[in-house]
Amino acid sequence: MTTERLRHLLTLDGLGGDRLDALLDTAEALHPNALGGTALRHVLAGRTVCNLFFENSTRTRSSFQLAAQRLGADVLNFDISASSVKKGESALDTLRTLEAMGIDAFVVRHAENGAVAALAAGAKPTTSLLNAGDGRSAHPTQGLLDMLTIRQRKGRDFSGLSVLVVGDVLHSRVARSDLHALRQLGCRDIRVCGPASLLPGSNITAGCTVGQNLDAMVEGADVVMMLRLQRERMEEGLVPSLDQYFREYGLTPARLARAKPDAIVMHPGPMNRGVEIADAVADGPQSVILDQVANGVAVRMAVLKHLLGG
Ligand code: CP
Repeated sequence: MTTERLRHLLTLDGLGGDRLDALLDTAEALHPNALGGTALRHVLAGRTVCNLFFENSTRTRSSFQLAAQRLGADVLNFDISASSVKKGESALDTLRTLEAMGIDAFVVRHAENGAVAALAAGAKPTTSLLNAGDGRSAHPTQGLLDMLTIRQRKGRDFSGLSVLVVGDVLHSRVARSDLHALRQLGCRDIRVCGPASLLPGSNITAGCTVGQNLDAMVEGADVVMMLRLQRERMEEGLVPSLDQYFREYGLTPARLARAKPDAIVMHPGPMNRGVEIADAVADGPQSVILDQVANGVAVRMAVLKHLLGG
C-alpha cells in the first residue's frame, strides 16, 4: 500500500493504481461491517464529520453519514436551506464557521467545478475535504464504489475487461471519475457511447473508443455503465426527445443481449427509467445497481478511515 496519507480526496486523477487498489482493499475488508453493527465504532471515535451539500443527494449524503457513524464519528448534517447561506454567507465563511466548532472533515457537494478544491485551499491545515461531487468535474467516491463493484464480479485484474460507458458523458462527473479510475487500474478497452451532443472533448476520453452507435458499441462488453440523462439540460436542446433518446441509447434486454452473457449493468442513480434504462434491465438479473449503493457505504468508510483514522 502507498503509505503516505491523503489529506483530502478531491479527485481520483493521478492517485495511481496502487493507491486505488489499497483503498479498494480497505473497502473490501470493511464491507462485512458496512451495513450495520457496532464493531468499528472505535475507529473514528472523537472525530467529527460534516456533510455540507449545496446540491441535492440521496445516495452520497446518506452513505457518508452512515459510513461516518458506523466508524464512531460524530456527524453534523448541515442543512443549507435553513442556514445563513440563505442570507448570503459564502461557502468558505460557512466552512470556516463550522470548522471553528471542531469539525475534522467536510464532505462537500457543490454545483461549481473546482468548488471543493477551492474550499480545501481555504481550510485549516488539519481539516480534510472530501469531494462528494463538484459540477461536472469529479465524484471520486462514486468512481471508487464503481470499481469495487466491478472487482467483486470480475476480479482484480481490469486489463482484459471491456467497459462501456453510455449516455450523457458531457455533463457527468461520475463518468470522469470512472474513466480516471479505469485507466489507472489498467483497463485497456474503455468504450464511450452517446449522441454527439452529449460527448465531451478528447481530453476527457483520451485512450477510449468513442462512438454513437450503441448496438455496435455494446457488442461483447463485460460491464455496461449507464449514465443519468441530466434532464435539467433538456432546455438546451441537446437531445431531440426522451422517446428518441430511449430508442437510440436506452439499455433494453435486446441490446444487453449483445454484451457478454455474464455482463453486469451499472447505473450511479438516480435512474430515469424508460429514458436511459428499461425497467426489465434495471431490475433484471444482470443489474448490480443496488450492489453499487451498498458498496458506497464500505468505500466511504474506507476513505474516511484513510483520511481521519489514527
Ligand atoms: N450517485 C449519486 O451521486 O447519487 P446521489 O445524487 O443520490 O448522491
